Amino acid sequence: MDKESVRIPAHVGIIMDGNGRWAELKGKKRSFGHRAGTANVERIAEHAFNVGVKALSLFAFSSENWARPKEEVDALMKLLERYLKKFADKVNKNGIKLTVMGDTTVLSDHLKTIIAETEKATAGNAKGTLNIGINYGGRQEIVKAAKEIKDCGEEFSVENFSKHLYTFNLGEPDLIIRTGGELRLSNFMLFQSAYSELYFTDVLWPDFDEKEFDRAIESFSSRKRRYGAVR
Ligand code: FPP
Repeated sequence: MDKESVRIPAHVGIIMDGNGRWAELKGKKRSFGHRAGTANVERIAEHAFNVGVKALSLFAFSSENWARPKEEVDALMKLLERYLKKFADKVNKNGIKLTVMGDTTVLSDHLKTIIAETEKATAGNAKGTLNIGINYGGRQEIVKAAKEIKDCGEEFSVENFSKHLYTFNLGEPDLIIRTGGELRLSNFMLFQSAYSELYFTDVLWPDFDEKEFDRAIESFSSRKRRYGAVR
């Protein structure tokens, strides 16, 4: 990708779908796919910040993912416990902050502690943000914002809603990528995606490499964003 001629989106969101199918195609358990998907988080985060993305929001575990078999939920939680700190250490070296969006109150004490520690350790970084959705749901986030606005006695305005979203400091994603072939947002950043450019690919998340990421950026770069206006 020629960085000079391509417009790099400041904020990219990714719905990382296809881990399970990737593993099943290889005759392995779904958790094998989640492990490969986790390794891919490291590869794509490094690449995204290298090409100039400022914020990367990743959908790791949705509010609805609790409905999966216990074994799979446990495997995902273990991966988060094991790798969040590793990712934070890595991005910390490059001045990137790690944040978590979602209702973390129901997570294990161990995971809550890891999240608190990694957020604290990287809080002073200003070059970019790796934002991870854990027990995140876009509808739940909108309801949370509405409750907070009501409790504070504020006016129900678009601006005030934006202020009460997890992404208040990050702004809205310019580009949302979904891997794995499904053509939907599945409760990801519903408020923030009003004017996001959407990119869907059949490539399964563990196979979504740097070249595939660049393809998404090139597609974004060729779009004309009008935000409802004429030009
Ligand atoms: C969707 O694939 C993927 C998930 C529900 C989990 C995504 C989580 C990771 C990649 C781990 C992230 C880890 C860290 C530390 C950030 P799927 O299981 O729905 O795949 P399928 O559609 O093929 O069944």
